[in-house]
Amino acid sequence: MANPKKSILIIGGGAVGAIAALNLEAGGLATVTIVLRSNYNVVKEHGYHIESCDHGVLEAWRPSVVRKTVPNITEEELQPYDYVILATKNIPDISPNALDLVTPALPKNSNRTTLLLYQNGLNIEKPFVTSHPNIPVLSGISMIGSDEPSPGHIIHGEGEKLKVGAFKTSNINPAVGERRAQEFVELYGKSGKTDVTYSPDVLYDRWKKLVYNASLNPICAITGLDSGRIRLADGGVEGLVKPAMKEIVAAAKACAGVELDEGIVEWTINADPLESYLKPSMQQDLEKGNFIEFENLVGEPLREGKNAGVPMPTLEVLYQLARAIQWRVRDERGLVDIPKKSADGSETTIG
Ligand SMILES: *[C@@H]1O[C@H](CO)[C@@H](O)[C@H](O)[C@H]1NC(C)=O
Ligand SMILES: *[C@@H]1O[C@H](CO)[C@@H](O)[C@H](O)[C@H]1NC(C)=O
Ligand SMILES: *[C@@H]1O[C@H](CO)[C@@H](O)[C@H](O)[C@H]1NC(C)=O
Repeated sequence: MANPKKSILIIGGGAVGAIAALNLEAGGLATVTIVLRSNYNVVKEHGYHIESCDHGVLEAWRPSVVRKTVPNITEEELQPYDYVILATKNIPDISPNALDLVTPALPKNSNRTTLLLYQNGLNIEKPFVTSHPNIPVLSGISMIGSDEPSPGHIIHGEGEKLKVGAFKTSNINPAVGERRAQEFVELYGKSGKTDVTYSPDVLYDRWKKLVYNASLNPICAITGLDSGRIRLADGGVEGLVKPAMKEIVAAAKACAGVELDEGIVEWTINADPLESYLKPSMQQDLEKGNFIEFENLVGEPLREGKNAGVPMPTLEVLYQLARAIQWRVRDERGLVDIPKKSADGSETTIG
C-alpha cells in the first residue's frame, strides 16, 4: 500500500521549525524529516525537550527523521518530498543564501514538490521562482511565541497563528499553487491545535506585517530599546516609529495596490501592551551577536517603494544603519579584511 502520508522536509529546527514539525506529526498526515544545524547533536542524541502551550510537555521527542545536512535528493536517490519548508532565518547577504541551501532538496524534473517559505519579508520567493520556475512557492506567515533557551529545549509559550497562501508567478497556473496551499492548511490544521488559515492575498499579508517588521524591528535593534521603552523614549514614536510606518503604508499602496486601514499605524504600535517590553527578533538577534534579517524586511520594501516614487527618508536611514551593523557583526566574526598599519606606516590588508 502506498504511504498515504505526505513527506515533508523542514530545513531549520529551531524554535519555529520544531513546533511546525511537532504539529505536522501530531496531525498524523505527514512524515517529517528535519534538518538541524547548531542543535543537531543534542536532538540526535536526546531528542527535543518541548514545553508547548498547545502540545504539552514532551521529553525526548524527535520527528521521523533527523538530519544534519539538506539532502541532495539526486545523489541519495530519494523520492522528491511533497513539501519542503524553509524555516531558517532569511539572510540573503550572508552565505549560504536560502536558494543555495534548499536547491539540493528540490527536484529538477518533477512537479511533486511544493516549497513553503516560512519566513518574513518581501520578495523572498524571487530567487526560487527564477531558478525553479515549475515549483509552486507558498508563503507562510507565522505569529508564534516560541524560544529555544538552550539547544533542543523549546519553550512554546504562545499559540501559533499561521497564514498560508501561494505566491503568484507567471509560470504556474495559479490554481495549482492555491490547491497546494489549501492542502497544506489541511495537513497543518489536522492536529486541531493550531490556528492555520488559507490566505489568498499574500502581498496584503506581507505588507501588513512589514508595518511592524520594517519599522519597530530595526528601530528597536538600532536603539537597543525594546518595543515598550521606544514608546516611552523622547521622540521614539513621533520621530521614528510613526514616520517609518507611514512610509511602509504609502509604499504598500504604490507598489502592490495594498490598501492598509487608516488606523494601522496606531494599531500596530499598540498591538502589544507597553508593559510587556517585548524585544522584536532583530533586537534579540543583535543582542546574541547574530546576523540580522534586514534585507528582506527593510531593504526590499525600501527599494520597491523608491522605485515606485515613494519618498522613504526614514526607511533609508534605518536601512543604511542596519547595513553598517551587519558589517560590524561580520567584522566581529573575523569575516572582513581590515587594512592594518604596518611598522613602516604603509597600509596592508590582513585576512
Ligand atoms: C547533487 O548531487 C549530484 C550528483 O552527485 C550533483 O551533480 C549535483 O550537483 C548535486 N546538487 C547540488 C545542488 O548540490
Ligand atoms: C504533474 O505532472 C504529471 C505528469 O506529467 C501530470 O499528469 C500532472 O497533471 C501534473 N500536476 C500538476 C499539478 O501540474
Ligand atoms: C515581526 O513582527 C512580529 C510582530 O508582528 C514580531 O513578533 C517578530 O519578532 C518580527 N519578526 C521578525 C523576523 O523580525
